[in-house]
Amino acid sequence: MRISVIGGGYVGLVSAVCFAELGHSVDLVEIDRAKCDAINAGHPPIYENGLEELLSAHAGKNLHAYVEYDHIKYSDIIFICVGTPQGPDGHPDLSNIISSSESIGRALRDTDDTRYHVVVVKSTVPPGTTEKQVIPSVLRQSGKKNDKIGFAVNPEFLREGMAVWDFMNPDRIVIGCRENRVGDLVEAAYSGIKAPVIRTGIAAAEMIKYASNAFLATKISYANEIGNICKKLGIDVYEVMRAVGRDSRIGPAFLNAGTGFGGSCLPKDVSALIALAEDLGENPVLLKSVMHINKLQPLRLIDLLIKRVGDLDGKKISVLGLSFKENTDDVRESRSVVVIKELISRGARVSAYDPRANQSMKRILPEVDYCSSASESLTDADACLVMTEWPEFAHLDKEFDLMKSRVIIEGRRILSCKDREGICW
Ligand code: UDX
Repeated sequence: MRISVIGGGYVGLVSAVCFAELGHSVDLVEIDRAKCDAINAGHPPIYENGLEELLSAHAGKNLHAYVEYDHIKYSDIIFICVGTPQGPDGHPDLSNIISSSESIGRALRDTDDTRYHVVVVKSTVPPGTTEKQVIPSVLRQSGKKNDKIGFAVNPEFLREGMAVWDFMNPDRIVIGCRENRVGDLVEAAYSGIKAPVIRTGIAAAEMIKYASNAFLATKISYANEIGNICKKLGIDVYEVMRAVGRDSRIGPAFLNAGTGFGGSCLPKDVSALIALAEDLGENPVLLKSVMHINKLQPLRLIDLLIKRVGDLDGKKISVLGLSFKENTDDVRESRSVVVIKELISRGARVSAYDPRANQSMKRILPEVDYCSSASESLTDADACLVMTEWPEFAHLDKEFDLMKSRVIIEGRRILSCKDREGICW
């Protein structure tokens, strides 16, 4: 099968590489020339576990990146994988979706009319976007009728850091479409992957992505709320959730209390769902509470810190972990950003260390001292905040002796040494 993927970000690049690994011939469109060149040279512009090995195996063979859309006219299926970042009012910014739909339409204008193409939206878009915006703009620009181009929605559920694994081992494949022949073609792109396929309507497939991420976010805020109560009672919330999660109706995943959820998806998708609900005249109080808990949660770490060391003015605080979770260099919506900003506003000096994310954080917060090891960051610190569950932090112990005193506060449960205090434990 010949497949095109539009967008060489986390979702597009991982999808392109994995479709190539499944044996398809893949054309990736990435309008940033530098990224495009890096991809063709076999070097992923982002860090993602297992991606480099697969990209170097397929780049220049059955995977080619282009800055133009021309090659997509040879494709059976075209996946739209462009970003839908959060706009100022909570609604996602759909400008990349609209411009890529128009470019796809223009590229398909002069194709042979006997050829059938399917355009698939993989980007996260509000219900109704594909029907109201993508389909009309592809058809308008291409000058074709919908018997020549089919449309589907196929949301991604890829976790950063685990995206290649998640693509190859999904819990389910959701395909939203109007016609069986469209669904059959999209399903064929995944042949070789063992997973239940769920066929739905187009808008339902768009909603499934929001509903899934909102539920995951709700589980986290729920665990944090219970955790905050547990902390007051001197109970370890991890002991509680270990048993709660064993109820098969609840499940153990996403019950880890801490400083809350960050990253490029959960905060953005819950905000988008709230905005959508309000547009419809609903007041989504549960989702608003999920976000409210998430906003306040990292600041509890600051309260705990002040209780332990007093006024922060002039104090040196070591922050271990900057990425929004382990195994990534991504700092988008990282709880560390919120915490470090608060520390700086209270006059603290911040010495930070992350195994991968120092550079990405430096672009946002240049005033922080970035260290090349945990030991360097801890030396002479008045206190330490652990913000990310990096495995290399698990066995830190004697390194804390480099601090003025062992004031160690965990925002994520990862340490095993004595003297640590957790945000909810
Ligand atoms: C998420 C979804 O999991 C994925 O299906 C979707 O397609 C994209 O969004 P991702 O953003 O990569 O993936 O990260 P995820 O592993 O879901 O973690 C999100 C945030 O929640 C992180 O900051 C993480 O530390 C936090 N988290 C996660 C918790 O605080 N507690 C938990 O129990 C789980």
